[in-house]
Amino acid sequence: MDKFLIRGGAKLKGEIEIGGAKNCALPVLFATLLSAEKHHVRRVPRLRDMDSTLSMIVHLGCSVDQRHARQFGSDWIVDATKLSGFDAPYDLVRKMRASTLVLGPLLARTGRARVSMPGGCAIGARPIDLHIMALEKLGAVIKQSAGFVEATFQSGKSSLTGGKIVFPFVSVGATENALMAASLARGSTQIENAAREPEITGLCEALVSMGAEIEGLGSSTLIVHGKEKLGAMNYEIIPDRVETATYLIAAQMTGGSIDLRGANASHLEAILEALKETGATIEVKPGHIKLQASKEICPVNISTAPYPAFPTDVQAQWVALMTQAKGSSTVTETIFENRFMHVPELKRMGAKIDISGNTLKIHGTPQAFEGAPVMATDLRASASLVLAGLVAHGETSVKRIYHLDRGYESMEIKLRALGADVDRTVDD
Ligand code: UD1
Repeated sequence: MDKFLIRGGAKLKGEIEIGGAKNCALPVLFATLLSAEKHHVRRVPRLRDMDSTLSMIVHLGCSVDQRHARQFGSDWIVDATKLSGFDAPYDLVRKMRASTLVLGPLLARTGRARVSMPGGCAIGARPIDLHIMALEKLGAVIKQSAGFVEATFQSGKSSLTGGKIVFPFVSVGATENALMAASLARGSTQIENAAREPEITGLCEALVSMGAEIEGLGSSTLIVHGKEKLGAMNYEIIPDRVETATYLIAAQMTGGSIDLRGANASHLEAILEALKETGATIEVKPGHIKLQASKEICPVNISTAPYPAFPTDVQAQWVALMTQAKGSSTVTETIFENRFMHVPELKRMGAKIDISGNTLKIHGTPQAFEGAPVMATDLRASASLVLAGLVAHGETSVKRIYHLDRGYESMEIKLRALGADVDRTVDD
């Protein structure tokens, strides 16, 4: 297992490239299963979650040709002509919960899908009841037994049927499964209270490139006019807004000055606003976001909520930033019930944080951390510990960075390019 060794103190300076968004690439690559074609997907980030996606696609009888033309990211050609499987086994879902996104496309194309129930994870229970409800509204017959969800068409039917899906609360994954399934359903489907994340719009655009007809892109009401068949996908993954936010926070925390090439500022409005309130100077140019850190970091309260509000995937990194603010702030997590796993580790480095239910009170003290061995339990918590290590005195070792490798491409290479003192070593 690898770990990062970070010697803190460097101010991050320079320009790096932002990669394709993991959370867009996942549904888009699973959407290729909707049609028996060769699909082109560009700017797929090189991440552990993409390796799991590849295993899933290959497990289902399809093949992938990856081309690494640039330093970061790859172009994938997915040949979905020979789709032969219909199941997502426990071992693949256990490694990557997003494997449940095969449910919609497999069912819609083949009339049968069998997916392992995801179970709990470090950041909460994460059930899939809304995914199941959405597919049932499209006429799927769903059975749950022995830890699996099995979905089929109604007897005598050769496709799903369009319907009205009203989500009681916003779910990114359930909206994605509904969109993919509805694209091959007979008739039209209305999805109410759909997630509005840029990754959802990305999936819609990828589906449209296959010939799908979708109205209301970017809004909470999506209307999908189902097609009997879809064609080949040709799509470039959107830039990763969580990776972008993480490096912006790193620059503000370390008193640095960075330029993120390939970033899309329109996907980060809540974060850029909050960063400006901390004192940072932000300049946006097409394809670039530049941040010049302020001398002091002002405390800023945030509360996570579905897009376009402050994303839960940046909450842990924001907590790290606020530990360095001059004064107290609060952070409230409203999406996941157990997403404060970074807090005990940050406290071991010297952070002063009180937890009360789903709210943290952070007593910020600039430059007060001491390097320590720390261990993370999920992807974004790991990122927050790396950020803390960048401002700590002495050496911080962040263990179990396989979590980081799920969602950050070559993080140590990008941090080193910005002047940080970070090494990846084997943890013995
Ligand atoms: C996606 C993102 C994840 C992000 C999250 C919220 C991917 C691969 N992952 O996860 O990084 O943190 O959105 O922005 O895109 N829920 C139910 N029943 C369901 C589905 C969800 O109760 O059937 C609950 C979840 O437990 C959670 C909330 O709804 O409390 C939101 O989850 P959801 O938006 O579905 O997150 P994911 O799609 O799993």
